[in-house]
Amino acid sequence: MSERTFIAIKPDGVKRNLVGRIITKFEDKGYKIIGLKLLIPTMEHAEKHYFEHKGKPFYPRLIKYITSGPIVAMVLEGDNVIAESRRLMGATKPEEAEAGTIRFEYAIAKEYNIIHGSDSPESAEREIAIYFKEEELCSDWTTMLESIMSDG
Ligand code: RTP
Ligand code: MG
Repeated sequence: MSERTFIAIKPDGVKRNLVGRIITKFEDKGYKIIGLKLLIPTMEHAEKHYFEHKGKPFYPRLIKYITSGPIVAMVLEGDNVIAESRRLMGATKPEEAEAGTIRFEYAIAKEYNIIHGSDSPESAEREIAIYFKEEELCSDWTTMLESIMSDG
């Protein structure tokens, strides 16, 4: 079923010049990018985004990290994109991430793990609304894969 997810390349990913390589992985897989921008998250963005972790020992460091530089915020659309993009990202702790995943390839610390992806349809809807206005999303176009599939 086609769904939407929120993906963010975190400040360590941007500062390490990994933006192109990470976006390529999602494009190669066949997902449709319907929202894309670079921004430095404000405290308000960060606190809304990570409210579920408030009170945990790592929370202050997480907020400092996510507001420490630009992120690339993206909305992707496609079949099972929420779960599949989490697979493509790999486990939170890079040492548990499967070989070939983004976190396996590019991260060694669980605190600085390069990328975020929504973990459920509810989180996706909530997170997209934190970073994007509906009019900033552009889904009224057809990817090559969508054209091929609709021909069949
Ligand atoms: P995310 O929300 O960023 O996509 O990551 P996730 O679902 O894989 O992991 P989650 O448990 O939601 O944790 C959010 C982010 O907090 C940082 N973290 N630090 N020091 C620690 O024990 C610790 N645990 C988590 C990571 O940046 C993690 O991605
Ligand atoms: Mg999470």
